[in-house]
Amino acid sequence: MSKYWSQVVRELEPYVPGEQPQIDGLIKLNTNESPYPPSPKVIDLITHDAIDRLRLYPDPSSKKLKDTIAHYYGVKAEQVFVGNGSDEVLALLFVAFFQQDKPLLFPDISYSFYPVYCKLFDIENKTIPLRDDFSINFGDYPSANGGIIFPNPNAPTAIGLPLADIEALLQKNTESVVVVDEAYIDFGGETAIKLVDKYPNLLVVQTLSKSRSLAGMRVGLAVGHTDLIDALNRVKDSFNSYPIDRIAEAATIVAFEDEAYFQACRDKIIATRNWTVSELEKLGFNVLPSEANFVFAEPIGKNAADIAQYLREHKILVRYFNKPRINQFLRITIGTDEQMQAMIQVLKTL
Ligand SMILES: Cc1ncc(COP(=O)(O)O)c(C=O)c1O
Repeated sequence: MSKYWSQVVRELEPYVPGEQPQIDGLIKLNTNESPYPPSPKVIDLITHDAIDRLRLYPDPSSKKLKDTIAHYYGVKAEQVFVGNGSDEVLALLFVAFFQQDKPLLFPDISYSFYPVYCKLFDIENKTIPLRDDFSINFGDYPSANGGIIFPNPNAPTAIGLPLADIEALLQKNTESVVVVDEAYIDFGGETAIKLVDKYPNLLVVQTLSKSRSLAGMRVGLAVGHTDLIDALNRVKDSFNSYPIDRIAEAATIVAFEDEAYFQACRDKIIATRNWTVSELEKLGFNVLPSEANFVFAEPIGKNAADIAQYLREHKILVRYFNKPRINQFLRITIGTDEQMQAMIQVLKTL
């Protein structure tokens, strides 16, 4: 705290990202990154020429990238927005749509950046409890709201929602913007992008950080009605005209074009997840049904914080949240087969 701080800064409760320690031989299963490198085509494009062009500003509208995403999802380029990671896309959309006189609604157990943005942008909000089985129940969401946001699959529970449930919500909730945060959709869910032409208040957010192995590049996107995209562009151009750098734009285009590599990595992660779930269950864990590249697992009869610490002592990092309702769970990112086998071996020594 300093006398130079503004009132806003004094009252902030910043988001705390998972650790990125520089420890040799560490098995890092704490931030839901991909264990696989990006497409080899991404690596090929970072040539001397590409580096030389860094002296020039990138295209502020990222047109080629939007064209690629639009083609991939069968929408118009004007229905696509891109930003510096989906965290930035989320921040901009909170300003664009959620500063209303009614509260923004989101699940009580959900992505912990949502309440941080509410505080930063002074957005009234109300959290709606998940059911006892940790699933989302839209029946509990009041119709008087200033917007609704939820991840699908949810984080950190990993539980996915059927598209029919999201469509039923959109049919009854027509007066505010509904945002589906699909950071983990590629690992088993069905994207709501299919619904954007039908519902003008639906915005779908995705990231290149998980299924496309580009967390370090920071690229996120949103797809929705052109009126929603216009609003996002207005906020973006009042904040940062060039959120996507030249190399990030080129790399993202290639990542979308290399479908075979994308599918191969995704399929490997799903297979490893299924193996990990069955091994954890054999060890007495209650594992919530996962449609993501991580699992949320409760060690029955043992203390989750102690297990996280024990794994850490064996150079394996998982995420533990000391929060009500979930303080007996561990969030474990799916790594390679070898990494997950190593984790299961350590757990067996407990
Ligand atoms: C639900 C959810 N949304 C958004 C993000 C942000 O992703 P990024 O900013 O890397 O695109 C994350 C990251 O872990 C997440 O879990």
